[in-house]
Amino acid sequence: MSRPPIRLRSPLCAADPARIEALVRAAGVFNAAEIAIARELVVETLARGEDAAGYHFLIADQGDAVAGYACYGPIPATENRFELYWIAVSPAARRGGLGQQLMAAAEMGARAKGATHLFAEASDRADSQPVHAFYRACGYTLHARVPDYHTDGDGLAIFGKRL
Ligand SMILES: CC(C)(COP(=O)(O)OP(=O)(O)OC[C@H]1O[C@@H](n2cnc3c(N)ncnc32)[C@H](O)[C@@H]1OP(=O)(O)O)[C@@H](O)C(=O)NCCC(=O)NCCS
Repeated sequence: MSRPPIRLRSPLCAADPARIEALVRAAGVFNAAEIAIARELVVETLARGEDAAGYHFLIADQGDAVAGYACYGPIPATENRFELYWIAVSPAARRGGLGQQLMAAAEMGARAKGATHLFAEASDRADSQPVHAFYRACGYTLHARVPDYHTDGDGLAIFGKRL
């Protein structure tokens, strides 16, 4: 059976906390604390609104499920610098260009809100190398590595792009 088409939308809707939590859990790379934070950001943004919360969401709907999403926003106390806080695509939808589509939409949204730079962080564990390849494919440069940032053997990699 063919899968329903994927459609990008914003803003968030009431069903998103559970659906985004399910997506982030299925992504297979986030720990329990990260999954809880991903859900909490959605709940907070639904309650306060995107501008007040400082988080902007793009959702890729596929039927009743969320096939991917991105969350970005201004970095507090910086000048027009934004961060891509989250990007995830369900394992079944990967390598079909959805990640790049979400990234392009996030860049366009950030630019429209005044962003001149977008930064994205990742772990530097071996199992995060696909994410590094993805950021590079989207035109991002690795600016810094901080060894053991998350825990011993799990450092931080900071990527960025001038928009
Ligand atoms: C990173 C992620 C969002 C990419 O989504 P995607 O829809 O598969 O990405 P795309 O299909 O748009 O890939 C674009 C390009 O990125 C690179 N790329 C993506 N996934 C890759 C992988 N697993 N290995 C190597 N390169 C990869 C390729 O160059 C790819 O182009 P190609 O398929 O024509 O070779 C997805 O793998 C994911 O959800 N990972 C887990 C969540 C995560 O770690 N998020 C980042 C931290 S918040």
